[in-house]
Amino acid sequence: MRTQVGIVGAGPAGLMLSHLLHLAGISSIIVENRSRAYCEARVRAGLMEHWVAQLLIDTGVGARLQREAMVHDGITIAFNGEARYIDFHKLIGKQVFIYDQKEVVTDLIARRLADGGQILFEVDETSVLHDFIGGCDGFHGICRPSFPDRALRGYDRVYPFGWLGILSESPPPDKELIYCFHERGFALFSMRGPDLSRLYLQCAADEDVDQWPDARIWDELETRLGGVRPLARGKILQKGITPMRSYVTEPMQAGRLFLAGDAAHIVPPTGAKGMNLAMADVRVLSRAIEAHYKSGRNELLENYSRTCLNRVWKGQRFSWWMTQMLHRHSDEMDFDAKRQIAEIDYVTGSQAAMTSLAENYAGLPME
Ligand code: DHB
Repeated sequence: MRTQVGIVGAGPAGLMLSHLLHLAGISSIIVENRSRAYCEARVRAGLMEHWVAQLLIDTGVGARLQREAMVHDGITIAFNGEARYIDFHKLIGKQVFIYDQKEVVTDLIARRLADGGQILFEVDETSVLHDFIGGCDGFHGICRPSFPDRALRGYDRVYPFGWLGILSESPPPDKELIYCFHERGFALFSMRGPDLSRLYLQCAADEDVDQWPDARIWDELETRLGGVRPLARGKILQKGITPMRSYVTEPMQAGRLFLAGDAAHIVPPTGAKGMNLAMADVRVLSRAIEAHYKSGRNELLENYSRTCLNRVWKGQRFSWWMTQMLHRHSDEMDFDAKRQIAEIDYVTGSQAAMTSLAENYAGLPME
């Protein structure tokens, strides 16, 4: 097989890369070791930055997003039994979109196949001849470990807690998201629809889901919501533990292999930057590959890693900051807890601080 770009992984990064290359007249082939059904069913964070939603719309894969996504103007942060709203739309004129990553994957797969794109599912290894490789196969994929040994350095932070996440047949407590800081730990109230809630609780890193029967989950969610809204209970459809880790590989390129998304960097889930950073990587990569083929210019390819890492570290900084601000670091009301309450009070009270949060949350500018 001869194709210009070989892409490993049919997640949002690999699929969007293939789609953007196709629009630029460049052929690619995607190899994915899971099945199509698996890729389309994997529930992940569902929060999309302003520019990512616009990218989907502008490149012709935003029709269902425009019909089905929930558009949010801001978020609420609750602490000490008080709810404080940060209005992104008023502060910076941007909104965010709630649309699960699996819906993005479903839409992109459908579009790639309709455009004659090649996606090989359930393939472990393939001999594809190509000029470039897009390593979009996630944190546990084969691409990053295939870098020459001393060529890359990893920057790592592991958090001593995780998230217990549920999907439940119940209306969310608010029409937009509520992030809670509580002495028993963090909680997040998100949604996938008017009667479908996506809810998260801070738990131990090695938490055993079996220790969490439904009633315990609901009691804990209600306690941490702190009475700022009533909480409707419902049938729990899914339960899972999300580990929390910050990780960056530098550089993101070796020879003709270019890493993008989770293959190169992962963030803790607070603020949901993962897919958004992945989309930024492939936007940069598709332009660089296009410049190579259209005008023989390689500066963009040579600068790929530097360009991406600039944004990646800002996303890392923001995800770490949201995480440290909103999670309990010890069981005591200690220095950190007091400092965090002061920080949340400041962040939800100062125009300058709210604007800074809004800019990062809704997405830093992407030219
Ligand atoms: C969701 C997940 C997040 O980590 C977040 O910060 C906001 C929303 C979600 O899955 O809906």
